[in-house]
Amino acid sequence: MHTSVLRSPVLPDRAGGGAAPLHAVPSTLLIPLAARAEGDACFPAMACGDAVAARLLRRLGTDTRAFAADRPTVLNILWRTRHIQAAGRAFFAAHPRAWGINLGCGLSHYFQWLDNGMNTWVDADLPEVMALRRALLPPGSARQRQAEIDIRSPHWWRSLQLPPEALEHPLFVVCEGVLMYLQPEQARAVLASFATHAPAGSRLIVDPLTRWAVGHARAHPSVGRTGAEFLWGISRLGELTACHPRLRLVHARSAAECYGWMGLACEAMWSPWIGAPLYGLAELGV
Ligand SMILES: C[S@@+](CC[C@H](N)C(=O)[O-])C[C@H]1O[C@@H](n2cnc3c(N)ncnc32)[C@H](O)[C@@H]1O
Repeated sequence: MHTSVLRSPVLPDRAGGGAAPLHAVPSTLLIPLAARAEGDACFPAMACGDAVAARLLRRLGTDTRAFAADRPTVLNILWRTRHIQAAGRAFFAAHPRAWGINLGCGLSHYFQWLDNGMNTWVDADLPEVMALRRALLPPGSARQRQAEIDIRSPHWWRSLQLPPEALEHPLFVVCEGVLMYLQPEQARAVLASFATHAPAGSRLIVDPLTRWAVGHARAHPSVGRTGAEFLWGISRLGELTACHPRLRLVHARSAAECYGWMGLACEAMWSPWIGAPLYGLAELGV
C-alpha cells in the first residue's frame, strides 16, 4: 500500500518514533468527510446535517479545498448519505434493539443520526484509520463500539467481535465508498461473508461503481489526488447477489437521480452499454 500523494492526516504517534501519513486508500476518507462538512452550504436541498464533520476537518488541518470544489462528488456523497440515513431510520424503527455496523467507516458518524437509545453501533476500519478515529472521535457510550478490521482478510467477520446478543436481531451493515478499492474476488468475498454470517432479515448497503471506472481513478477529480485506484466495479446489478445463494437485491438506485430527468435520460441511453448505473446504492438482504 503506498502513501497518499496528498498531505493526508498523520496518525497519532503512540511509540514516539515520528508520525506517519495515511496510506492512499485510507486517505480517501477525507473525500466524504469534506463533502459532509462543507456540502450542505452548496446543496441545501441535499443537506445531510452532519454535526461533527466540520469539527473533525478543522482538527485534522488538512487542506481539502480541492475535494469541496469537486461538486459532482460532493453531491453524490450527500445523496448517498441521505439515503443511508433513511434506510437506517427505517431499519431501526422495525428493529429498535438491533446492531448497526459500518465497514470502512473512515471518519463518518452515522450514529449521530441513528442512535435511538436502544440500538448499538460498531464502526470498523483498518488499524491506521481506527487509530485516527480513536484520537478524534472516541466512542460516546457503551452502545458505540469500534473494531480494527481488514475486510480483505477471510476472517474479517470474526474481527468485529460481535457478542451473541448482536446476532439475536437482524443487522444493519453499511459499506460505502470501500468495495471499489478491493480486488474483485475480495469484494465478492465481503458480500459472501455477510450472507454467511448475518441473521435473516439483515441488510447490507453498498455503493457499486461501474466496471468501466476500474483502473481510471487518476481521472477522478478527487480520488485521483489520493493515489488510490478503483479495482472493482460491476456491469450488472445481478453480480452483487451472484456470489451467495442467500443474498437478494432489496432495492437499487442510481446517482443519476441527483441530476434530475436529464441524468436519468442520459443513463437510460447508456444503459445498453454500461449495464449497471455508473454509480449507485444497493440494499442487499438475507
Ligand atoms: C472513501 S473512504 C469511505 C469512508 C466512509 N465509509 C465514508 O463514507 O465516510 C474508504 C474507507 O474504506 C476503508 N477501507 C479500505 N480498504 C479497507 C479494508 N480492506 N478493510 C477495512 N476498511 C477499508 C478506508 O480505510 C477508508 O476509511
